[in-house]
Amino acid sequence: MQTIDVDTLRTWLDVGHAVAVLDVRTAVDRAEWAIPGSIHVDAYAALKVNDPHALDALDLPGDVPIVTVCGAGKISLVAAEQLRARGFEAYSLAGGMRAWSLAWNTAELRVPNSAARVVQVRRTGKGCLSYLIGADDQAAVIDAALEPAIYQQLALRHGWRITAVLDTHIHADHLSRSRALAEQTGATLYLPQQERVSFSHSPIGDDDTIAIGSARLRALRTPGHTAESTSYLLDDQALFTGDTLFLNAVGRPDLHADPEAARMRAHALYAGLQRLLALPRETLILPGHTSAPIAFDGKPLATTLAQVYAQTALLQVAEDGFVAGVLARIPPTPPNHTQITELNEAGALADDPIALEAGANRCAIA
Ligand SMILES: [Fe+2]
Repeated sequence: MQTIDVDTLRTWLDVGHAVAVLDVRTAVDRAEWAIPGSIHVDAYAALKVNDPHALDALDLPGDVPIVTVCGAGKISLVAAEQLRARGFEAYSLAGGMRAWSLAWNTAELRVPNSAARVVQVRRTGKGCLSYLIGADDQAAVIDAALEPAIYQQLALRHGWRITAVLDTHIHADHLSRSRALAEQTGATLYLPQQERVSFSHSPIGDDDTIAIGSARLRALRTPGHTAESTSYLLDDQALFTGDTLFLNAVGRPDLHADPEAARMRAHALYAGLQRLLALPRETLILPGHTSAPIAFDGKPLATTLAQVYAQTALLQVAEDGFVAGVLARIPPTPPNHTQITELNEAGALADDPIALEAGANRCAIA
């Protein structure tokens, strides 16, 4: 039986290679996360019992390869086999959506009034957004969430050398690859000042500045999502907000906090957001996450502060309403967040990051 690996499918989608992706999971599983542009047929139960008519009703294109997808790559084998028997060029995605967790794509943007160019590096399934920022021959990476080699290759392609690696906060939803990336590139590892991590790094405090070639990143301490959460302002033009502010939502303040601590953090988040809202309204907002699968369209997930304000109701209310609104809308806690946080505090990577990081992102409150 023919299978296809995540990297091949990722590359096909990236370069626009003709392919139809057929998702055979249940509607419930698909609602959690999906491959952008995929076709859905709720055939899981029928395929599981090898019903030969499971996919009969489907009208599939006959002239492009079809990649079948399920949760872990087993039932999709049955689907691919049935399609091949009908004459289709069908492959099963090895490892299924679990393996798809590490699939990524990029989008590039130029920042007005800055020598810097920004590559948004997106984990399409999980919605983790990391950034490669290059100016002259240097580059910085913010919130590395993928294998270090990916950032190194992207930097090389642009003629940049990675000299600084930063995190916006200690993450709870994915394993930070920043320490490994800094070690492999010889770059300086900057983390917001805190007493949580147990490995060596350069602490970055409020208003500290880091040079990337002729560009500058300035730290703005914006606690709330976590106590150390920090946003980074690039040449007074673009703001990397981590999990403090998203394009239409704000960060959650409750992880690893009891209800009273969450309330305090929600107040801190309000204050931090007011600080960001005082920046010029044309400032470009570049968040740390998005909650929907990210298309292979090369379009950056970014907009102006004015637009973020306009589309985020929680930003438009006074402090008491903000705190009440945030606390009333707390989403389910992300799976394995305690274990992920502990690994990030220890600077360690799990043996099987996919198992630990599975599922969509749940950082935002809209
Ligand atoms: Fe976070």
